[in-house]
Amino acid sequence: MKVKCELCGKEYNIPDERIPPDRTISFPCPACKKGVINITLRSEGIDVSSPVERPRKKGPSIDVDRDLPTGDVLKKIILNRLTELPPMPQVMFKAREIMNDPASGFRALAEILEKDQAMATRVLRLSNSAYYGLAGKVTSVQHAAVLLGYKTVGEVVAMAISSKLLGESLEGYRMNSGDLWKHSLAVAIASRLIAGKRNKDLENDAFSAGLIHDAGKIILNRYVFERRSAFEEYMSDKSRSFLDAEKEILGFDHAEIAAEMCNVWKIPKSLTAAISFHHYPAQSNGNVLAAIVHVADSLSLMSGIGSGVDGMLYRMDHRAQESLGLSEDDLRDILDETVESVDKITEQMN
Ligand SMILES: [Fe+2]
Ligand SMILES: [Fe+2]
Repeated sequence: MKVKCELCGKEYNIPDERIPPDRTISFPCPACKKGVINITLRSEGIDVSSPVERPRKKGPSIDVDRDLPTGDVLKKIILNRLTELPPMPQVMFKAREIMNDPASGFRALAEILEKDQAMATRVLRLSNSAYYGLAGKVTSVQHAAVLLGYKTVGEVVAMAISSKLLGESLEGYRMNSGDLWKHSLAVAIASRLIAGKRNKDLENDAFSAGLIHDAGKIILNRYVFERRSAFEEYMSDKSRSFLDAEKEILGFDHAEIAAEMCNVWKIPKSLTAAISFHHYPAQSNGNVLAAIVHVADSLSLMSGIGSGVDGMLYRMDHRAQESLGLSEDDLRDILDETVESVDKITEQMN
């Protein structure tokens, strides 16, 4: 289905197969950000009751260069290399600790940042973003703590760490530098907003899980890029998503690899489960965070925020939306606030 922004005229092509039935979705135009795109969804030809499930694993059914490993062999190679991951998530832990208990650990975090000038600079730039309304006033991490409070500084530090971890371009996923971070930031903000409506105790963990939910892509990027011709061939059928291609060609997807990264980083189990099941929350045994991150991810992908090759080829499992008690109006409000917040935060980073 072709949809068009009434304000700037930009057209978007959304395959019918990817449109959830019997729903009306509106989102701000990613191009002009002022217009609103409305999609009226149809139900003919779509099995309304069909759940969104993680497809069974298969070996590659299309030709991948014979020298390139896939399936279990490739997964083993990747898991062995995960030990080379950068230690930054340790700082992420400190940031999470402070978000959950503002009185704890700020001194230790400030000491870490004093030794990492590049990271401290990122923290300052983010603290001075329009999002916090302190443009230009924050001059040091300690000063940020006074003006913003420890909890917010913890949040800013988590954003700064993820901007470094996720900021590179990912050629395999056709993402420019900053795209994955922008998308992850949007999912983090939307996840926190959703948690705020459903369960305030989950706000901080929803934010953290949203920030790193797609970290598996930074590991898989080189393997996807090496097999790009197989991906292109598979994706020539426009109804297939990039996630399907990962499973079909590699034998596993970025969420599975992100879960392995979480294990290496010793990230708490509830966050790991949310990240592992962010595409298939129905399989998470009722993990509320998984449902939250899934809905936030779907919203941000459908609105085109830093989404790369998959873009709008994404389908929300509406059981997750229902389990969280979110109306269409709630989703629209969350998306509006997310788009505005991401703009304010990233403006300063550009
Ligand atoms: Fe994902
Ligand atoms: Fe995502």
